[in-house]
Amino acid sequence: ETPPHPKTPMMGWSSWNNFRVDINEQVMKAQADAMVLTGLKKAGYNFINMDDGFFGGRNEKGELLVHGKRFPSGMKALADYIHSKGLKAGIYSDAGINTCASIWDKDTIGVGSGLYGHDEQDLNLMLKTWGYDFIKVDWCGGEKLALDEEMRYTQIANHIKRIKKEALFNICRWQFPGKWAIEIADSWRISGDINNKFESILNIIDKNADLWKYSSPGHVNDMDMLQVGRGMSYEEDKSHFSMWAMMNSPLLLGNDLRTISKETLTLVTNTEVIALNQDKLGYQARRLKKSGELEIWAKPLVSTMSGLVAVSLLNRSDKTASVDLDLESLGFDLSHHYTIRDLWKHQDYPATKAKTERFELPAHGVITLKIKGKLIPFNIFQSEK
Ligand code: DGJ
Repeated sequence: ETPPHPKTPMMGWSSWNNFRVDINEQVMKAQADAMVLTGLKKAGYNFINMDDGFFGGRNEKGELLVHGKRFPSGMKALADYIHSKGLKAGIYSDAGINTCASIWDKDTIGVGSGLYGHDEQDLNLMLKTWGYDFIKVDWCGGEKLALDEEMRYTQIANHIKRIKKEALFNICRWQFPGKWAIEIADSWRISGDINNKFESILNIIDKNADLWKYSSPGHVNDMDMLQVGRGMSYEEDKSHFSMWAMMNSPLLLGNDLRTISKETLTLVTNTEVIALNQDKLGYQARRLKKSGELEIWAKPLVSTMSGLVAVSLLNRSDKTASVDLDLESLGFDLSHHYTIRDLWKHQDYPATKAKTERFELPAHGVITLKIKGKLIPFNIFQSEK
């Protein structure tokens, strides 16, 4: 069983990328079933998160109502079902009066369904009465009210802590909210919404690049829900997944798990890549080198003292390319041997003392490695955090 407060990024599935507001209890339950049956749960994915679309306005007492057609059995029954599978349940609201969907989906009564004016009542209902373990709090309604975001999210965080200390909390602003967020939330979005184009993936990576210092165990930059298995090429999916793992983002699948392909399943259950994301040191990968459209990213791992660093070579261009990896620039002491393991090929390269290694990268592709050797003292990872 996972502890209530995982000190590693959340792993699971969320409804938004694939279903938008067109969601219902059968579909949600089927995702939970599939998470267990496919072996995703075994690989570490354990949250089933409901996003926008379940709202049904409020009654005259101000109590929150649920969309009757989509969720006739109610939200507690759904959380109970998810829990019965040994999984955790996530839910969604907004810091303002309305949720985002109220603006464009006539059938979701997101108008008046946000937390504003109902903090205690709604958070009690969602976290205590219904039993949800995680809540994502959006900002569509917040934006309309021109609230002070730090004050507003701090109020909400305080309520959550009082009502259910172990509940996890995500701040959904469409940019890094500010240093204050790292004190009160488990994760916070740093960009607008992701889509299933490689350009969107690169854009979010760039937005997160300088934010590495705000990531720590249990408090991470949220690069948004995954688009793996939703139309990008295999190489693009691999680059996307590698970089989300390297940069400590929550790993929330966004595809329909009922129809996940063998190829996608193999990709997202690569336990060697997942292990980078879940590494206890919690150090977000940094871009150590950029030359044109080729980049070298590095993430020291928990046993960095013994010389363990994950590296991703990223080819942003739509042509194949070769990259020379200079081991000295990563802080390795080359009077000692080092070993390199390819975490996608699941294969070790022979031990060597060579100063550089050359790698061939496919278009939009990535090579993700784990390098073990001896690091020089006061290397870049120790000196700058
Ligand atoms: C905006 C958020 O950024 C998305 O992730 C999603 O939650 C939608 N709102 C829901 O309306």
